[in-house]
Amino acid sequence: MSFKVITSVSDMQQYSKECLRRGNIIGLVPTMGFLHEGHLSLIDKSKEKADIIIVSIFVNPTQFAPTEDFSKYPRDLDRDIELLKSKEVDVLFLPDANEIYPDNFNTFVKVKEVTERYEGEFRPTHFEGVTTIVSILFNCVKPNIAVFGRKDAQQAFVIEKMVQDLKMDIKIIVSPIIRENDGLAMSSRNIYLNANERNDALVLKNSLDLAKKLIELNEYNASVLIFEMERLFLAVPSASLDYIAIVNKENFNTVDKLKKDNTYYILVACKIGSTRLIDNLEISL
Ligand code: PAF
Repeated sequence: MSFKVITSVSDMQQYSKECLRRGNIIGLVPTMGFLHEGHLSLIDKSKEKADIIIVSIFVNPTQFAPTEDFSKYPRDLDRDIELLKSKEVDVLFLPDANEIYPDNFNTFVKVKEVTERYEGEFRPTHFEGVTTIVSILFNCVKPNIAVFGRKDAQQAFVIEKMVQDLKMDIKIIVSPIIRENDGLAMSSRNIYLNANERNDALVLKNSLDLAKKLIELNEYNASVLIFEMERLFLAVPSASLDYIAIVNKENFNTVDKLKKDNTYYILVACKIGSTRLIDNLEISL
């Protein structure tokens, strides 16, 4: 099938209805564009489960606070289209902001509680914007499966909660973090870093590696792990740490002590200069 760009909501819905009528399985990879290897790995993942692959590109204004980087968020549509073609994606859904959010738009989807912690504490309106746009994209694309990156582990958890609570008949797949050769987690925002900051940004991954090493040495006390990680950030002048949290993967509640037979995420968010980066590590005991 040849590559198609669909910009109107009704054309998208019509296309998906026809695919579903034919018995196809639709996989959606929602993105904000400026695609990198991390996004491409989500496309590969969706191909394992679906036979029609739809990628959306929409820089969603409602998930950025007025002080954040919406207007300067990196964009390169021509390059994105070449990458999508090379991955043999079926459809790029590229909706127009005026159709997604017309002037009289007044409906938001909000997952409570978990969205107030970690990222939510520093970006209080962020997750409401994410769950709203993801619901809209689901209604436009009608996917059977949707793939999200584990770099945004809390976002993936919030979306899974929304899907569960609202009885959306969509399977959410969370795909592993893709890293640069030196360990920095891939992110469209890495482009903001100058050469020194790019080097300083390794402190996120280094702090997670340190925690992993300490856990392997049987240090299960969350406050000790966090204290040792924080020391690495203090040694990097351009780094301003927002939070380190150790949470149970099942419920995203913070834990004081790691226990056998449980899986955790260690979450890190830090500004390097003026660029805010996040990373995480999954730990199974
Ligand atoms: O992870 C992202 O790129 C965005 O938050 C998403 C899921 C595409 C919603 O705008």
